Amino acid sequence: MSQLSFPLLLVNFKAYREALGKSALKLASMAEKASRETGVCIAVAPQIVDLRLLAGEVDIPIFAQHIDPVGYGRYTGHISPEAVLDAGCVGALISHSEHRLSLNVIEETVRRASEVGLITVVCADTVERCRAVAAYRPTAIAIEPPELIGTGIPVSKARPEVVSGAVEAVRGVNPSVRVLCGAGITQGVDVEAALRLGAEGVLVASGVVKSPDPYRVMLELASAMKP
Ligand code: G3P
Repeated sequence: MSQLSFPLLLVNFKAYREALGKSALKLASMAEKASRETGVCIAVAPQIVDLRLLAGEVDIPIFAQHIDPVGYGRYTGHISPEAVLDAGCVGALISHSEHRLSLNVIEETVRRASEVGLITVVCADTVERCRAVAAYRPTAIAIEPPELIGTGIPVSKARPEVVSGAVEAVRGVNPSVRVLCGAGITQGVDVEAALRLGAEGVLVASGVVKSPDPYRVMLELASAMKP
């Protein structure tokens, strides 16, 4: 299932030691297994250096954690949408809270990614920013209050109004833009709460990557999305 569908469980590997190289491959294989088991789309966003490895080995959608609004040419050290596509990715996170970009750069990056056919998931920290970003027509916007990231305190329970507010704001600008939420999500009940608030999936990291049993957690989170 390398095609993306919603509801979506998107697992960000960040720069965690537990999710690098061979370990990244192991985690991605677990994601593939959990996805097959549940019928729910599970995508992963490994570190840039692992993109081609994972895309060649597993049949799930692979995302880059970041791209730059550049093309071919003199862009040393930048990550072009073309390179990410060529590595076998279907999409990219843009402006994650740990790699925040200005609105102008987000707009340009979404435009460049769309030109090459990449799916775009833009992260935003507030309802207002979600509203602003929706105008750029990304595939999805992930609302993530930074203060909850990595805490295990789920956004869908601690800040439900932010999730429903983001859903409403994005719908008001462009109803075709999907809304995900992330930060602190570790359990099936957190996912159920997110979906009840109108989100079409979740963006998770430490709850999966740092777990002693990542497969079990992915299975639980994906199962909570089954109709
Ligand atoms: O990209 C997902 C992320 O920022 C949420 O992190 O560790 O709270 O699931 P975590």
